[in-house]
Amino acid sequence: MPSRPTKLIPPTFSRTPSLDAEAVELSVAIELPEGVEAIGLAVAPAADGAGAGDDIPAALGLDRAALTRAGFTGEIGQTLVIPSQDAPTYIAVGAGAPEKRTPAALRDIAAAFARAASSFASIGLDVARSFDLDPASAGQLVVEGALLARYRYTELKRETKRTPLVALHLVAGAEDLPETATGAHRGEVLARAANLARDLANTPPGHLTATDLAEVAETLGAANGLDVEVFDKDALIELGLGGLLGVNAGSVEEPRMIKLRYTPKDDDGSPIEAAGHLALVGKGIMYDSGGISLKPSDPSHAAMKMDMTGAGAILSAMTALEELRCTSSVTAFLMCTDNMPSGSATMLGDVLTFRNGTTVEIKNTDAEGRLVLADGLSLAVEEEPDAIVDIATLTGAAIMALGTKTAAVHGTDQGIVDQTLASSKATDEQLWQLPLERSYRKQLDSDVADLANIGGRFAGSTLAALFLAEFVGDIPWAHLDIAGTMLVESDESWRSKGATGYGTRLLIDLALNFRA
Ligand code: BES
Ligand code: MN
Ligand code: ZN
Repeated sequence: MPSRPTKLIPPTFSRTPSLDAEAVELSVAIELPEGVEAIGLAVAPAADGAGAGDDIPAALGLDRAALTRAGFTGEIGQTLVIPSQDAPTYIAVGAGAPEKRTPAALRDIAAAFARAASSFASIGLDVARSFDLDPASAGQLVVEGALLARYRYTELKRETKRTPLVALHLVAGAEDLPETATGAHRGEVLARAANLARDLANTPPGHLTATDLAEVAETLGAANGLDVEVFDKDALIELGLGGLLGVNAGSVEEPRMIKLRYTPKDDDGSPIEAAGHLALVGKGIMYDSGGISLKPSDPSHAAMKMDMTGAGAILSAMTALEELRCTSSVTAFLMCTDNMPSGSATMLGDVLTFRNGTTVEIKNTDAEGRLVLADGLSLAVEEEPDAIVDIATLTGAAIMALGTKTAAVHGTDQGIVDQTLASSKATDEQLWQLPLERSYRKQLDSDVADLANIGGRFAGSTLAALFLAEFVGDIPWAHLDIAGTMLVESDESWRSKGATGYGTRLLIDLALNFRA
């Protein structure tokens, strides 16, 4: 088969945040060091009652009336850069009223500050002390917010006007320094993983094929203590992955199934007994044209290079597990191919035979995510894990139902669904449970096969979940439909324009806290 000569510029994933040391310098001290170019200071709204409200830091050189005249009220998310002749530049950062100072608010505040200071490379923030949080969480949230907000995908631009963040300095009380620093490191690992997922999703489809992603996974796995096994097309035929192969049928690019395994180890590197075993399955559609059921050439189609966001989130999350000393085992299956139309593509009415023997009639080749996931779920079941979580940019219906801020979760077991909801809360990657309404299952009946790959017009994310449920056996299972949350149109708090990396931090939190 001819291969596609589209790699005009070679992919350069040696740049991946987890691999090179383009790391931001982090420091935690009782005061900010010399040379910090921009300093963020907390200002609460007036008449806070608690007394802190009109405690405006003297370094800002302005009183409440002046701040108010400039439109700065101290709400969370607000910032005001105070122009000054001499360095450093001070930035007033809204700390909000005390009852609004949640962990998510601290992340948002750090993000707002890092954006307001976007023309400065060395920045320092003194807000965490206004928050009644443990020092480790405070350190983590500030670093996460700032590093996520300063992310930009600049790989393919000749030049960028953006100032990269070089140093981030935090202030903490003397007795809190070690804990804050530990938290800050954790925040760095989390943000780096999420930014890696963003890089993967923002990369053009011709620069990141299934084969390329497998190579990236091998490199990242070797650097981060993961066992990586890559299955090429012949191996997939051997395994009988009819779903993944059926989606790949129209492509000149080979599919790949990437199996990742993390095993908890002690300090000498010998395996220790795991707290639990979690299996993850990711949709890795490197580009979704819709196949023979071709998508219209609208902006949503143009975003389909991001249809591998689920697989990217899992790979990125797994790069953080060793560093964060995850105590559970995690086995992941990334189901990777593009979905293309051609003379060899799967046709409507074709029937595919899946890994577990199920036959599926294809009535719409654009409902391809569930096909690759089904084989991944079967493989996961064979591992006999304590639970399976899959993550996929699966349905437009999930976007219709919940918009772009909140992803959908469906599942067969409330325990694992609740664990995903708890991780959602901890990471501010919003999630909402939708039902797995069993009575809709008959819509997936086929005249010729065990199942059809689409049902009726309504409750599209439930129908997709019901399809997947056919492949999970009795293993507790939760399914995250992240179609709506994979990208944002413009900067918003810690979400930077473009791919959000949604799911990466959620999955890390889930793995770290996983209970069988
Ligand atoms: N990848 C898409 C879903 C999607 C749409 C993700 C927009 C992100 C943004 C998926 O493969 C798809 O095409 N789903 C179809 C299913 C339908 C044919 C049953 C959809 O939702 O329209
Ligand atoms: Mn599709
Ligand atoms: Zn898709």
